[in-house]
Amino acid sequence: MLRVSPMISIQDLVKQYGKFTAVDGVSLDVSPGEIHGFLGPNGAGKTTTLRMIAGLLKPTSGRVLVNGHDVATEPEAAKASLGFIPDRPFIYEKLTAGEFLRFHGGLYGLGEDGLDGRAREMLELFDLGRWENELVESFSHGMKQRLVMSAAFLHRPRAVVVDEPMVGLDPRGARLIKDVFRTMSARGVAILMSTHTLEVAQEMCDRISIILKGRIIARGTVPEIRAMGDGHDDHLTSVFLKLTGGSGLQEIDEII
Ligand SMILES: Nc1ncnc2c1ncn2[C@@H]1O[C@H](COP(=O)(O)OP(=O)(O)OP(=O)(O)O)[C@@H](O)[C@H]1O
Ligand SMILES: [Mg+2]
Repeated sequence: MLRVSPMISIQDLVKQYGKFTAVDGVSLDVSPGEIHGFLGPNGAGKTTTLRMIAGLLKPTSGRVLVNGHDVATEPEAAKASLGFIPDRPFIYEKLTAGEFLRFHGGLYGLGEDGLDGRAREMLELFDLGRWENELVESFSHGMKQRLVMSAAFLHRPRAVVVDEPMVGLDPRGARLIKDVFRTMSARGVAILMSTHTLEVAQEMCDRISIILKGRIIARGTVPEIRAMGDGHDDHLTSVFLKLTGGSGLQEIDEII
């Protein structure tokens, strides 16, 4: 079988804050075209891990490669291959959607050539085409979130890391995001997305890694994780029983 090298590769990543270990030896690979769910309760270490992948936070130890580039030693090349969508994005509200995207494109070194067209394509993809010349301050939460996502995909990244993409979205907004992620994964983009919600992970992700207290406690496809529910570890078993038998809408916080 042909082995594809991972688009995102995390190796034994650790982040300590003083004596507290927020991320405790996480390893994770995401292949081109894969949507990988990063599932865990509040405080599990999801955001900390994602920020280290994006190069926004320095790991205590371990390595992150994006498209084969080490984030620590080749940050420019790694960042050029990556789109990052934070959980609480900042957008300067006095810009229009179009200006925001062109500004963002400039930050990534996209030339004038083709930038307008690409910006328009992304706005259309995220159902913001009509809003190109409107100020961001007039946007709803969902629209702002979609604008940030259109910016993250603007420079044609090979990998996208997204922190809690579904929070605060209505069903139509959530549907749209799911469709866009699927479209992008079909184009070969590797997507790593954090979520609390089993339903989101099950519906969207090819594989899921479950993180608890900074450590990965399970990984696999949904059927594989279901099969792990037969294991011996009491705690894990209860998690997996809930995973398989739960309502699906349940938040993992309630489970663990
Ligand atoms: N700057 C910091 N200093 C000290 N501790 C921190 C810092 N940032 C995060 N932590 C701690 O690290 C742990 C992991 O936090 P993190 O934000 O990564 O969790 P999370 O899985 O994203 O949670 P949530 O689901 O609530 O977003 C938490 O216990 C948090 O309090
Ligand atoms: Mg978080």
